[in-house]
Formats: sequence, structure tokens, C-alpha cells
Amino acid sequence: MDKNSIHGMWSSRLAFILAASGSAVGLGNIWRFPYLASDNGGGAFVLIYLACIVLVGLPIMAAEILMGRQGRMSPVNTLRKLTREGGHSGGWTVIGWIGMVAAVLILSFYSVVGGWTMHYTWLYIAQIFGGPPISDPVATFTNLLASPGTLIFWHTAFMAVTVAVVAMGVEKGLERAVKFLMPLLFLILLGLLGYGISTGNVGQAAEFLFTPDFSEVTGDTLLAALGQAFFSLSLGMCGIMTYGAYLPRDISIPRVAVAVSATDTAVALLAGLAIFPVLFTFGIAPAGGGPGLIFTSLPLAFSDMAFGIPYAVAFFGLLFVAAWTSSISLLEPPSAFLVEMGNLSRRTSAIIAAVFIWAIGLVTALGFNVWQNVRVFGRDLQGAIEFVASDLMLPIGGLLIAIFAGYVLNREVARSQLSHLSKAGFAIWRFLICIVAPVLVLVVLGFKLFG
Ligand code: TRP
Repeated sequence: MDKNSIHGMWSSRLAFILAASGSAVGLGNIWRFPYLASDNGGGAFVLIYLACIVLVGLPIMAAEILMGRQGRMSPVNTLRKLTREGGHSGGWTVIGWIGMVAAVLILSFYSVVGGWTMHYTWLYIAQIFGGPPISDPVATFTNLLASPGTLIFWHTAFMAVTVAVVAMGVEKGLERAVKFLMPLLFLILLGLLGYGISTGNVGQAAEFLFTPDFSEVTGDTLLAALGQAFFSLSLGMCGIMTYGAYLPRDISIPRVAVAVSATDTAVALLAGLAIFPVLFTFGIAPAGGGPGLIFTSLPLAFSDMAFGIPYAVAFFGLLFVAAWTSSISLLEPPSAFLVEMGNLSRRTSAIIAAVFIWAIGLVTALGFNVWQNVRVFGRDLQGAIEFVASDLMLPIGGLLIAIFAGYVLNREVARSQLSHLSKAGFAIWRFLICIVAPVLVLVVLGFKLFG
């Protein structure tokens, strides 16, 4: 017997795949992955990353979806329901709380960076209509960070478009948005890829990304690859679990998990193949990228290349769309939780959650200027929030999810949720979720804390 979620349901398998891919495909794919790959031995990093996706990402994603579909609520109440049903300790509800707090923290700075993508899209659109060119990209970027007013304006705008979608609900908001935005994202990406291929340096880019240089592989490479797998697949904070809560019972979880992981990986690789040819053509060194790769290096190329301005609009538009469909998935869990608390409508819940997270985001925005000398854990404010949320809470959350799904949750519950798997397939999933994933995550966590 199965019931629907009180929040709504995805209308089809495709709707779920688009929504979960929308969550996964984000800033992590388009600037972080290419830069990590270039700094960690190119092809060797890519191979290790693929192994992490298959061995850790896929089984944990399946675990999140199946727990969500069993509970049908926001993370905290899903865990509450699962522990009650199975007679397990209520302490496991902490997984839901970690997820909720991580979502709030990640969205608080993700929204500020999402605001940057809107700001840059706007600057280049303005240029089409005769606005001033970006002649000194480093100065433009530095000026943006130095201006609290501009940062907060775009942070507010980004949070506004995010809450607008979440307030409308699962079918009318989330599903409608991703059905429009994800095809748009693929279209822009293919356009940029076509441009990269036509400039002729895609071969050099492919060689750079796919020729393994194992001499550059160190322990850090493994850590970077596994950490990136987690962040890129949106795992560890119950975001995919929340989307799983709205998944109809007859849809195969392994199948959608594979589709989402493959889409996420493909976008990361294609983004690399779109960005590096441009950098190579204009002789810009990709090493030492980070945030600067996107916001300072690429604009150098835009001002010199043919169709540079429309290319720039498409590129930052792509980043914005990718960030938007991810931020939706970060606002959904706290909004759904507030709905479950009692009498608030979805609209009011989403707005309350967004205003609260927006206010925390001010810490990130002001940390770049007014509070730029403040240090927490030896990091600036944005770095500290990102460290606590991404480097600590995600792996801890992921580890607990693996342990709960592997050792605590009744095996029959998992088996019936994964009924599309063969007997051997289920045994492999059990092995990955019980042994491989926890061990690898523990190793990474240990290195991050003590290494
Ligand atoms: N996966 C997204 C990216 O690559 C970011 C993201 C969205 C995320 N939701 C998340 C990361 C939940 C961790 C947890 O940009």
C-alpha cells in the first residue's frame, strides 16, 4: 500500500529526473569540476571521480531516494516516521536535522554566488545595448565584492526567483520550472560546446581533460574527487531524499539514480570541453582557477573573441540557470518542514524560510567587504560557512545515511523499495552501502579533519 506525499507528487519519471538533475547540475559542475580536474592531473582525476560516482555516489543516492519515498515527508519527519515504523532509536532523526541546517547554510552563500551570475549576465546584456565594456575583469570582480549594496541587491534578486518557484508547489512550481529550465540549460551548453569545437582547440582541451597523468595523483586527489562527487550530486543533506518523497511508487529507483548521476557527470565533462578550448585559444592558463576562472579569466577571452558578448550572455545565463535549479532544491526541505509544522500554507512557509536564509546570506555578502578581516576557523566568513556545511556536514550526513540505510533500516523495506533490482543487484547495493561507501567517506572525513 502506498500513499502520496502531502506536498505533491512528480507527474512522471522524467519530471523527477529533470528535478534531481537540476539539483545536481550547478555551480559545482561548471566552474568547480573543470578547475579541480586541471589542478589534479586531468584525466587521472576524471577517472577517479568516475569511480567515486559509481562506488559512493550512486548507492547513497539510491539510499536517499528510497528513504524519502518510504517516509514521504521533509527529511526530519521522514526520519521520524522511518524510525517509528521500524522501532529504531529516534536519535537517527539527527540525519534530517543535519540536512536541514546544511541546506540553510549552503543556500545562504549559494544565493550570494547565484547573485554574481545574475550580475554578470546583466552586465553583458547591457553591453549588447551599448553599456560599458568589461576592460579589466579583475577590477570588475574586486569592485563587485567590495560593494555590499550590489552584492545584497543581487542576492535578494536570486532568493526572490528561488522562492517564487518553491512557493508555487511541487507540480506548479518545481516541476514546471525544471521542465522549462533544464532543456534551456542543455541547449545553451550544446551551443557553447559547438563554439568551442568550431574554434578548433577542443582536441587540446580533450587531451588535457582525458589523458591520465598518474604522476600527479596524490592522496589529495582522491579527497578532492570524492568531495566533488558528494557536492556535485547534491548528496548528504537529504535534498535528493526530499525529492524522493515525491516519487511515485512504481518508478524504478536504480534507473532514475543512474540517469541523474550520468546527466550530472556528462554536464561536468561537457562544461570542461566548452570552457577549456576558449581558454586555450586565448592563451589563458587554466591552472589556479577557483572562482576567478569563471569571473575573471573567461571575461578576458570574451572581450577578444568573435561573438564574445553573446557568448558571455549565454555562459553566465547557463551558470544562472544551473544555480537556480539547485537553489530550488535547497529551499524545498526547510519549506516542506514548515508546512508540516502545522498551519502555514506552502506560500507562507517558503517565504519565511527564504527570508530567514536571506538574512544569514548577509553574513556572506558582508564578509567580502565590511567584515573582510573577520576570521573563523582561519577562513573568511564565506569560507567558514562553506567549510562547515560542505566539508563537514555533507560527508557526516552521507555517512549516517549510508549506515542507516545499510544497517538500521529494515532490509525488507529497502528490498521492496529497490524491487527493480535483481537479487545480485541488490546484494551489490548492500555491499556498496554497508562497506565501500562508509569506509571511503570515513577516510575522506578523517583527512579533512586531521590530515
Ligand atoms: N549540486 C549542486 C552543484 O553542483 C549544489 C547543490 C545543490 C548541493 N543542492 C545541494 C550541494 C545539496 C550539496 C548538497 O552546484
